[in-house]
Amino acid sequence: MTELLLLANIDEPGLATREVYERRGGYQSLRKALQMPREAVLQEISDSGLRGRGGAGFRMGQKAGFLPKGDMPKYLTCNADESEPGTFKDRELMQKTPHMLLEGIVIACYGANIREAFIYIRGEYQLQGDIVAAAIGEAYEAGYLGEDILGSGHDLKLVLHRGAGAYICGEETALLDSLEGKRGNPRLKPPFPAIQGLYQGPTLINNVETLSTVPTIIALGGKRYAEIGTETSTGTKLVSVSGDVQRPGNYEVELGTASREIIYGMAGGPQPGREVKLWFPGGSSSPVLTGSDLDIAYDFDTLAKAGTMLGSGAIIVVDDSHSVLEVMRKVAKFYAHESCGKCVPCREGTNWTVKMIERIESGEATPMDLDIIASVQTQIIGNCLCVLGDAMAMPIGSMVEKFRPELEAEVEAARERAAGGALDEAIPIGVTDPVL
Ligand SMILES: Cc1cc2nc3c(=O)[nH]c(=O)nc-3n(C[C@H](O)[C@H](O)[C@H](O)COP(=O)(O)O)c2cc1C
Repeated sequence: MTELLLLANIDEPGLATREVYERRGGYQSLRKALQMPREAVLQEISDSGLRGRGGAGFRMGQKAGFLPKGDMPKYLTCNADESEPGTFKDRELMQKTPHMLLEGIVIACYGANIREAFIYIRGEYQLQGDIVAAAIGEAYEAGYLGEDILGSGHDLKLVLHRGAGAYICGEETALLDSLEGKRGNPRLKPPFPAIQGLYQGPTLINNVETLSTVPTIIALGGKRYAEIGTETSTGTKLVSVSGDVQRPGNYEVELGTASREIIYGMAGGPQPGREVKLWFPGGSSSPVLTGSDLDIAYDFDTLAKAGTMLGSGAIIVVDDSHSVLEVMRKVAKFYAHESCGKCVPCREGTNWTVKMIERIESGEATPMDLDIIASVQTQIIGNCLCVLGDAMAMPIGSMVEKFRPELEAEVEAARERAAGGALDEAIPIGVTDPVL
């Protein structure tokens, strides 16, 4: 049984207020951190082994270590854009325990000697934005933000910025451009934000869940935190489970837990009589796994070894009532719509993939078109300005590879349909509600 660290008090009424949060021990980690030298705070974060919870899984301590020391203006930006399909964990954290996020931000800023921070929240999170704004107001009143925080001599200004609903603005450099008031397009990297980020200054960018974990790390100590989970995937992770499961929702799991336990044990698995056909382990941009991969341990490295990724920690389950082609179309359409168009492989590749899938559906394709779809995906991967293109190419490529016989049958059935022939009864196409 996982010891809950992030969700321990999550359903306590009023937890979003400073009063209840403090009653539950809130802001004690900040008080503790402010008594420590800045470097010691960063050392605890490094010792914890905490890996970013936003998608890439980069170690937070290492990223903070890239920031130049010195007294120049430096920034922290909290990525609260949460637009990856299937992901809704940051929403719950911000809605129910916003002070935990604020406490994490203040501790990280103290450790890295940062005096100006931003929370970039997706525009659609109107309610959560209002709750976070109210919490920021309370934190200023209590002296957790502003000048000379709790008499430590450390100042921190925190600004909440609402996005306008673009998936690309979750990509860290597009987010920075958007925050600066420009169109949210990704920048070329390097330089990475830790060296040249917001307003050209060194910038630490972390996800809501990553920063919300910092108070726990300070409370437990980095080394003790690192004992939870596996050696290289430490701690607990919030997993958003959606799609064909009986109990969708956010679950906090120790990293390394068997995926079957999450999908079936916690989320109840598909409806009786249905089987898992495929599942996305880390949001819609992760290569899919099949119903035979359920015993795989849910952690960064095991999933990477299995050819996929933990990503944002969003498991989307698709049961055997759905057609793979339909899932492919929905995924490709999302990324084609959200591509910013700045680089060619992503702009053209995502659009052509949608067109090729629609060709299959209208009966104009042959099985060779599946090879072309697969080859377009390989040409996108690694060739884009940011990984939005890869985010479509990886799952689409994996579905073509893993479900080739079903897709070939779809091609044939659609050709027959278009030619006015009998439908192949064995191949259901779009017979159920879409899962994505
Ligand atoms: C297209 C795209 C969208 C992304 N969307 C998000 C997002 O909504 N939230 C997030 O935290 N990270 C998102 N990321 C990852 C960020 O670029 C970045 O890696 C992350 O904010 C770093 O924080 P972390 O180290 O705490 O995970 C996205 C990346 C890409 C390429």
